[in-house]
Amino acid sequence: MLVVSISGSPAQKSRSGVVLKHAARWLKDHGVEVKALRIHDFNAEDLLFARFDSPQVIDFIEAVRRADGLLIGTPVYKASFSGALKTLLDLLPERSLHGKVVLPLATGGSIAHMLAVDYALKPVLSALKCQEVLHGIYAIDSQVTYNDDETGGELDDILTERLYEGLEHFQLSLQHRAHARHKDAGGHLKLAL
Ligand SMILES: Cc1cc2nc3c(=O)[nH]c(=O)nc-3n(C[C@H](O)[C@H](O)[C@H](O)COP(=O)(O)O)c2cc1C
Repeated sequence: MLVVSISGSPAQKSRSGVVLKHAARWLKDHGVEVKALRIHDFNAEDLLFARFDSPQVIDFIEAVRRADGLLIGTPVYKASFSGALKTLLDLLPERSLHGKVVLPLATGGSIAHMLAVDYALKPVLSALKCQEVLHGIYAIDSQVTYNDDETGGELDDILTERLYEGLEHFQLSLQHRAHARHKDAGGHLKLAL
């Protein structure tokens, strides 16, 4: 099973990035392959000028095509998800998220914008034909600390518990979808014989 993890924060030291790192570690410990991508991995001009023919963008689209699910991490910026993440999502073809499970993870300065994922990110994921967006996990800044050297950071106990619970759901959904695909493939094979 392959999960693509996308970190949508423009910041080098990123709290949402720390949450994503913990999530990726949990998934790897549970046998899931994770390909981690950050906004920083892309050429800013490719994103800003929507260069669909950039090799990096083509690789990104291919990684998403192969993925069973996506972890999407973002800071809340002005009551929405980050503009940098939007420039990346804009480059995906229209049906890119069809058949994939998405778990959104967001961090914000205050609890006031905890619904940003619901009213801002989910419609974009729907436009990409995602049918299964799981309940996102929202953390406030005081729940996440990061190290000075970008190697990672820590989550408080309540957030850790909520994150692991969310990841258990995510893994189950991935397994259900893999099962359904397998059954479909079996059915097609029988019909072909
Ligand atoms: C430009 C900017 C806009 C922000 N807007 C909001 C906001 O509207 N609501 C909020 O709760 N936090 C807001 N914040 C705080 C960030 O969401 C918060 O610090 C977040 O954890 C940063 O995540 P990151 O470290 O992954 O970039 C804003 C921060 C910045 C830099």
